[in-house]
Amino acid sequence: MPDARELSNEPIILTDIGELVVVPPGPLRGARMRGLQRIRGAALRIDAGRISWFGPHSEIPAANSAKARRVSAGGGCVIPGLIDCHTHIPFAGNRADEFVRRIAGESYLSIMQSGGGIRVTTRAVRAASLQTLIDENLPRLRRMLAEGVTTIECKSGYGLDADSELKQLRAVAALSRLQPAELVPTYLGAHALPAEYDGRSDEFIDALSSEALLAELRAGDDGRPLARFVDVFCDHGAFGVEQSRRYLQRAKSAGFKLKLHADELAQIGASRLAGELSAVSADHLEHIDDAGIDALRRGGVVAVVLPGTSFCLGIPHADARRLIDADLPVAVATDANPGSCPIESLRMAMDVACCQLRLTPEEVLCATTANAAAAVCEAHRIGAITVGHDADLVILETPSLDEWAYSVGRPRVRSVFKRGTLLAIDRNG
Ligand code: NIG
Ligand code: FE
Repeated sequence: MPDARELSNEPIILTDIGELVVVPPGPLRGARMRGLQRIRGAALRIDAGRISWFGPHSEIPAANSAKARRVSAGGGCVIPGLIDCHTHIPFAGNRADEFVRRIAGESYLSIMQSGGGIRVTTRAVRAASLQTLIDENLPRLRRMLAEGVTTIECKSGYGLDADSELKQLRAVAALSRLQPAELVPTYLGAHALPAEYDGRSDEFIDALSSEALLAELRAGDDGRPLARFVDVFCDHGAFGVEQSRRYLQRAKSAGFKLKLHADELAQIGASRLAGELSAVSADHLEHIDDAGIDALRRGGVVAVVLPGTSFCLGIPHADARRLIDADLPVAVATDANPGSCPIESLRMAMDVACCQLRLTPEEVLCATTANAAAAVCEAHRIGAITVGHDADLVILETPSLDEWAYSVGRPRVRSVFKRGTLLAIDRNG
């Protein structure tokens, strides 16, 4: 795949679009995730990296076709660039042994309690150099981009001490410069209790939300913050509601936007906390209750479901249908990580969302574009087909969205544009 920065950003008219799926800007609540406008036989113009016009092919204004390179979509369907709004990339090493132990019947929690789980990856990340983290994760991002994922949220959370967390986030910054997908960095210091803090979780929470560390994350390197969001694993076996509230309030006072891993393993009130603090998103939600749903709605929180995690752990899925019917904006992401969900394919998470969560292809598309953009506070700029938005676009091999969803298990992506730059053209020629 060519590097985005090697290509010019000339005006482009994308022609011969089999079906343009006009996803409006997020957040899209409940029923607004359905009934999208679909223009058959469409065209779309890109100027200065942004969508400047779209409509039926027959209506391209004459002035519009002047001085623009024509690129044919070859009859393929065009959708907004996909957004994976929840990943634990970059990490080091793998936990294939735990994957096999779970298949044999052990649970995620029992493996964690017997010394496995996040702590294993923490040892690997602490031992890895910055360069190793970059080298191990660059191919992952490139594979995701080839599947049409043009924006990827990337969490720390395997360092669990200030220096190692900073190293993970510096790897994200370096990876942003090395490949064209846009990376959104999230600090997840409160992901798990490292061994040296056994029995002292309050002290750990205080250390990992110290004013000095949060200020360093905000200041970043070269004027670019090292993190935009602060996240916490608020759950049974991780951090309690009081600890999470303290940690998140400090982050909020330091100017960060908030995310929570909520209601994944048990119901301890994490989604209620998300609503109370008006977090940007609450993620997982397998065990959400009515009070949690109400709290998310009142707090304007995006509900992020991660069907790949339930699929890999063999636990019940989040009831995404209920969340949509409760008028929440629902997003779908991978949760790509070396433990609970070694799935880096957003396409696969979308397939599970269609077939197991019973979301329609339109709902799943909104969940991975407009609503995923809202989950990273970028819905004003990406995740939609609307004039003025960045031209982050995917040309599919299929003529329609429905046929794309139907080709379960195959990416079927022909080309990818990031900010109007064509990154990959049909791999078959
Ligand atoms: O989102 N829930 C907590 N964290 C990850 C798992 C991380 C791991 O197992 O390494 C998750 O599922
Ligand atoms: Fe996660």
